[in-house]
Amino acid sequence: MQNFTFCNPTKILFGKGRIQDLAKEIPAGQRVLVTYGGGSALANGTLGEVREALRHAVVTEFGGIEPNPSYETLCKAVKLARETGAEFLLAVGGGSVMDGTKFIAAAVPFTGEDPWDLVTRKAPVKAALPFGTVLTMPATGSEMNSGAVITRRSIGAKLPFGSPLLFPRFSVLDPEKTYSLPPRQIGNGIVDAFVHTVEQYLTYPADAPMQDEFSEGILRTLIRVGPRTLAEPENYEARAAFVWAATLALNGLIGAGVPQDWATHMIGHELTALHGLDHAQSLAVVLPAMLEERFEAKKAKLVQYADRVWGLESPAEAIEATRTFFESLGVKTRLKDYGVSPDAIPALLEALKTHGMTALGERRDVTLEVSRRVLERAL
Ligand code: NZQ
Ligand code: ZN
Repeated sequence: MQNFTFCNPTKILFGKGRIQDLAKEIPAGQRVLVTYGGGSALANGTLGEVREALRHAVVTEFGGIEPNPSYETLCKAVKLARETGAEFLLAVGGGSVMDGTKFIAAAVPFTGEDPWDLVTRKAPVKAALPFGTVLTMPATGSEMNSGAVITRRSIGAKLPFGSPLLFPRFSVLDPEKTYSLPPRQIGNGIVDAFVHTVEQYLTYPADAPMQDEFSEGILRTLIRVGPRTLAEPENYEARAAFVWAATLALNGLIGAGVPQDWATHMIGHELTALHGLDHAQSLAVVLPAMLEERFEAKKAKLVQYADRVWGLESPAEAIEATRTFFESLGVKTRLKDYGVSPDAIPALLEALKTHGMTALGERRDVTLEVSRRVLERAL
């Protein structure tokens, strides 16, 4: 096992009716900026419950944070937060709203010229407003981690950044608030959580049995409850298991002390930035191709994955089972399914190069040439 430091300060308020506990987390009279997306939180009543729970605070709202949150939109929220003297931010939504709110939290006290420098890591995050989240979509784990992915539409860039200052103070995880998700987003969420786990587990053996068992438990849980929560969106037990699995998949626990991959995510981000695939769609396309391409380097863990997660002897069959699982959730796994043709590959590789993504993976051996082969396999 590798050395590691593990600290996760986010308080989780899990279960039915927990939004009312916001009143205990946010002091009376505090100036709060509530952020949300395109309106789903309003339509399903979550925002109404939040307003009710925060009636003792001084609340301003900023709506319209889009999927794959954009720097352009978020800068407007930064302006509003400064104008209203916001002391606390509350994100109500999925990964995009939570990530966008992390950017706002870091950008409000930023004194440099352009807060985009925080995303490119040209400028370190030195301070951040405190914030909490109310989750409406299980997928990214953003509710219990310190990372965010921000898109700058004008230059077609989608980049991850993070800081220990960007853990939410608390997150409300009420599975009932996710019942209104359409099937496409439920499938997306299951795939995203699955791939987060795989990126931290399916590398090479690192004598980390607890991390392996946790990861295998998350993967088996997603395989078991995923189809159920898709078929029965209001089955509380299935949805609760899914919500917690998605949070645990990317809260630092399973990744502590082990090698991590993330090549699938980095290539996926370019597919989203240039071709508009949903985040999870991009992962469903890249992951099976990535595992096929790096079969030998990952063989020891692939054998373990096949056996312990799928009950299969053959690692090749486990990759096929992974693809079939994603497809069964309604998430297509080929570039052509999204209208991306072979002639799109050079621009994707160019974007990877521009963003410094030329030595990816747990051994830093996923060069542009390897990424090219992965994308060709994914056609
Ligand atoms: O905008 P609204 O109206 O809220 O609708 C959203 C959006 O259209 C809708 N939705 C969310 N909750 C709903 C709902 N619809 C009905 N009922 C509900 N309860 O779902 C759509 C997608 O929402 P979004 O927040 O974009 O999805 P997701 O949670 O998958 O987040 C994706 C973003 O997170 C980033 C991705 O790159 C992408 O930008 N990621 C963040 C990570 C992190 N912070 O650690 C890691 C991930 O790997 C990922 O990269
Ligand atoms: Zn992801």
